[in-house]
Amino acid sequence: MFVKQVWLEQYRNIQTASIKPARHLTVLYGFNGQGKTNFLESVYLLGNARPFRSAKVPDLICHGTRTAAVRGLIFSAGVESDILLRLEQHTRRVTVDGKAVQRAADLHGRLAVVIFSPDDTAMVKLGPETRRRYLDRSLYASDAGFLQEYHSYYRILKQRNALLKTNQTEGLDLWTEQLATAGSRLMGHRQRYADRLNHLLQQKYQQIAGEQEKVSLVYQPDVPCETEDARAEALRTVLNNQREHDLRYKTTGRGPHRDDLAFLIGGRPLKGFGSQGQQRSFVLALKMAELDHLQETFGEMPVLLLDDIASELDRERMTNLLSYVRQREVQVLITTTDVTPFLPALQQDSKLFRVDEGRLTYEGNGTP
Ligand SMILES: Nc1ncnc2c1ncn2[C@@H]1O[C@H](COP(=O)(O)OP(=O)(O)OP(=O)(O)O)[C@@H](O)[C@H]1O
Ligand SMILES: [Mg+2]
Repeated sequence: MFVKQVWLEQYRNIQTASIKPARHLTVLYGFNGQGKTNFLESVYLLGNARPFRSAKVPDLICHGTRTAAVRGLIFSAGVESDILLRLEQHTRRVTVDGKAVQRAADLHGRLAVVIFSPDDTAMVKLGPETRRRYLDRSLYASDAGFLQEYHSYYRILKQRNALLKTNQTEGLDLWTEQLATAGSRLMGHRQRYADRLNHLLQQKYQQIAGEQEKVSLVYQPDVPCETEDARAEALRTVLNNQREHDLRYKTTGRGPHRDDLAFLIGGRPLKGFGSQGQQRSFVLALKMAELDHLQETFGEMPVLLLDDIASELDRERMTNLLSYVRQREVQVLITTTDVTPFLPALQQDSKLFRVDEGRLTYEGNGTP
């Protein structure tokens, strides 16, 4: 899949823009604070209907105006679709080919996007919640059905917690039972997806970092169990054992809402034993694994967005990454403050844009 054209209106600091990215490589360069990440964010939004930074809809609207629009012409599964997002202070209207889309799931799979931004590396160091969110979000990207399982678990959890706050025990066993069933399904999804990413990870890491170090990603459920079938039973047992504790603290202390992912290098935690560069390469390799997984799911390559990549990787790893993406049929959009490292990679099917105070100017394909 690829983005043929993007139109923006009053999107953050971009008043208007009409951009036709290259089929392969598009580089957007400019000084700090000019709107490069804003542009990538708008492309991400076309695929997900929500921003990747923890922004809220009103943040996306240009200050001093009331509405913004992001429109994209997307080519995927052999057809073109016209996706339009209208952003207002409290709402977000999405249409595909002029028809209103009600649920996020209806947009699913039209434009699959993988983004790597400087913020992503922080997930190595931050708490489990960040890694859980990453896992669930990227799982959802390849499996629309997951959303229902996810909401089902968290809805039951909320209800069980609400009951715990009332000091009543009537009905608690029923919620516990439902939580164990929904939780075991959620865990099953997470386990299978983490195994899949882990399977792809090692090779990606070697390609990018050029290192032989063994890396792995391991799902760490709060309630571990030996086999798939034993999951609901294990969860039920733990929840029942925790009953008194939960009543005392008025909240559900154990379960998949406490799950984590372990990132390992040479069998040790990446957080404590990996260098900064290794941590970045690890997260980037994870994104490349995601890319392959999405390609298998949809039968075509998703779009790859690399934000400020040159600040994240050294020259050698950048070269590795660029030659890696060059070998694949993938559309890549890159932002950078310094265009120099990208000049050798710019070829016939590439485009260069300068970003200056929210204006995007086409500067050819970068070849003299
Ligand atoms: N809603 C908004 N309305 C107007 N301007 C905005 C809005 N949101 C953000 N901005 C402006 O956009 C600019 C930041 O843009 P962006 O993050 O895309 O910069 P960048 O080119 O990626 O810079 P860097 O190289 O530092 O990452 C800031 O100047 C910020 O004030
Ligand atoms: Mg930026």
